Amino acid sequence: MTLLKTENLTKVFGNFKAVDEINIEVKKGEVYGFIGPNGAGKSTTIRVLLGMLKPTSGHASIFGKDVWKDAVDIHKRIAYVPGDVNLWPNLTGGEVIDLFMKLRGGTMNQERREELIEKFKFDPSNKCRTYSKGNRQKVSLIAAFASDADLYILDEPTSGLDPLMELTFQECVMEAREAGKSILLSSHILSEVERLCDRVGIIRDGKIIESGSLDELRHLTRTNLNVETKQPITNLDEMKGVHNVERKEQILSLQVDSENLDNVIRHISQFGVVKLESAPPTLEDLFMRHYEGAGGVS
Ligand SMILES: Nc1ncnc2c1ncn2[C@@H]1O[C@H](COP(=O)(O)OP(=O)(O)O)[C@@H](O)[C@H]1O
Ligand SMILES: [Mg+2]
Repeated sequence: MTLLKTENLTKVFGNFKAVDEINIEVKKGEVYGFIGPNGAGKSTTIRVLLGMLKPTSGHASIFGKDVWKDAVDIHKRIAYVPGDVNLWPNLTGGEVIDLFMKLRGGTMNQERREELIEKFKFDPSNKCRTYSKGNRQKVSLIAAFASDADLYILDEPTSGLDPLMELTFQECVMEAREAGKSILLSSHILSEVERLCDRVGIIRDGKIIESGSLDELRHLTRTNLNVETKQPITNLDEMKGVHNVERKEQILSLQVDSENLDNVIRHISQFGVVKLESAPPTLEDLFMRHYEGAGGVS
């Protein structure tokens, strides 16, 4: 079942296309990773999904409802965490968590609230003006995960959290998924997404350049090989799927498109393999290749 869907969603600021005909889909019970470097168009897409920006063209729906026209209905069933949380400086963290939960309506789960405060090692008794960025993120995360939403929209939610809290966050996402909830998680940190997401869409310059399950994306990845053979390997550079061949003394290192691995190994084996090491393809490699020549990952 599809909970969130965009069809050729486009958002133009002046004459700048921040979001360019995006098609994404989040299904019930899945974590969808929305991945791209800073300025790619993630937050703009999310602000359209929240009904805060009107699409220039195309369409977006959540729970089958129009995100712009039916924002009130939709917001009863979603929880949103932005990457930069603004809070009421004169209220305590605990008061703001309660306020967020009340604003969201529905059932207040006090037990879950306490559990999350504990989990995130958060002191709710201080005034918000004293909180660091990480603590402000915690306020928003605790309020979101304590609410009984069907869809969590998280826009780079862990900025400012230390690595231990990052793990706590990941646990919360996994618990939500186990409870049948859906999550749209935007990030420029690939490792975060690789662990959590069922499917990802990679956005660059407002366009989705790759999408699918992690398994599907892995087909696009390359395996790293280090080989030593008795005789020098010939004709390797011309083979399909072979990249970045380098010789360092006896060792030949290369990258092979995963779909051509079988052929390449067969070719190499004719030269008397003395040593063969392979490193598994990582999504990081795929990601980096997409950003080669595009200003790098910021
Ligand atoms: N209100 C706006 N007016 C003009 N340009 C904007 C506005 N909001 C975002 N942008 C531009 O749109 C692009 C995408 O921004 P954003 O969606 O925030 O990217 P991301 O969240 O992926 O880092 C950026 O180049 C940004 O400067
Ligand atoms: Mg952003």
